[in-house]
Amino acid sequence: MDLVLKDICKSFTNSGKKSKVLDSINLTIKNGEFVTLLGPSGCGKTTLLTIIAGFKKADSGEIHLGEKKVEGPGSERGFVFQDYALFPWLTVKENIAYPLRFKSLSEEEKNLKIDKLLDMSQLKGKENFFPREISGGMQQRTAFVRSLAGEPEVLLMDEPLGALDFHMRQDIQLELESLWLKTKKTVVMVTHDIDEAISLSDRVVVMSKNGGKILEDLKIDLPRSRDKHSKEYVENREKLSILLEKALRG
Ligand SMILES: Nc1ncnc2c1ncn2[C@@H]1O[C@H](COP(=O)(O)OP(=O)(O)OP(=O)(O)O)[C@@H](O)[C@H]1O
Ligand SMILES: [Mg+2]
Repeated sequence: MDLVLKDICKSFTNSGKKSKVLDSINLTIKNGEFVTLLGPSGCGKTTLLTIIAGFKKADSGEIHLGEKKVEGPGSERGFVFQDYALFPWLTVKENIAYPLRFKSLSEEEKNLKIDKLLDMSQLKGKENFFPREISGGMQQRTAFVRSLAGEPEVLLMDEPLGALDFHMRQDIQLELESLWLKTKKTVVMVTHDIDEAISLSDRVVVMSKNGGKILEDLKIDLPRSRDKHSKEYVENREKLSILLEKALRG
């Protein structure tokens, strides 16, 4: 199902001053596509993602997922928060099972499903640990497969790797890519990181700081997994750094 954003506008008023954060955003994300929102701090990435998730309302405009109009949160859209937002009082397994609580599945079906997700994310052996007892990378993977548990059509991720160190980030990027290749969900991911955007995305949407517009919608047409030293990769990186500088100026 395609995700279609039509003329999305959003303003906030801070100390009496109104500022337009999103100004008539139009974007179509195809079924199974991996799209990244890239842009400087404060340009409205989280705002746009939370509007797609249905946690926030746009002032005007519409979002459609296939035939259906998005009116609020829904299980067909999974969300990965920047700080993982795992429930600290639940184990890894219970966290992953959380989106299944209202599904009409037998205990056996639920267990089978959770087992598959634990396997996929290499969290077997950690299922009875609490979030504080596992590493940041494992917490990240738990949050990621938890968002897959409810079988969403679309996965929305807000800087899901933001808190990780360089090496862990590289490893998890590869895992994220292979998980995505296995599941082929539609993904909208927010990041600050140009390399992360080029490594993972089919398209990178660059948002500008002032004005709330899309500055560029860049197709990354490179075979996976991507060679960071290839001529095309380096060209894309240069193009995006110039665009990011432009985005900062507004
Ligand atoms: N609830 C709110 N009330 C008032 N202003 C808000 C609110 N939420 C966001 N804003 C403002 O909207 C702008 C965009 O915020 P948003 O969180 O979407 O940025 P972002 O691109 O995700 O930034 P970052 O990369 O730092 O996470 C900011 O100027 C912010 O101050
Ligand atoms: Mg943000």
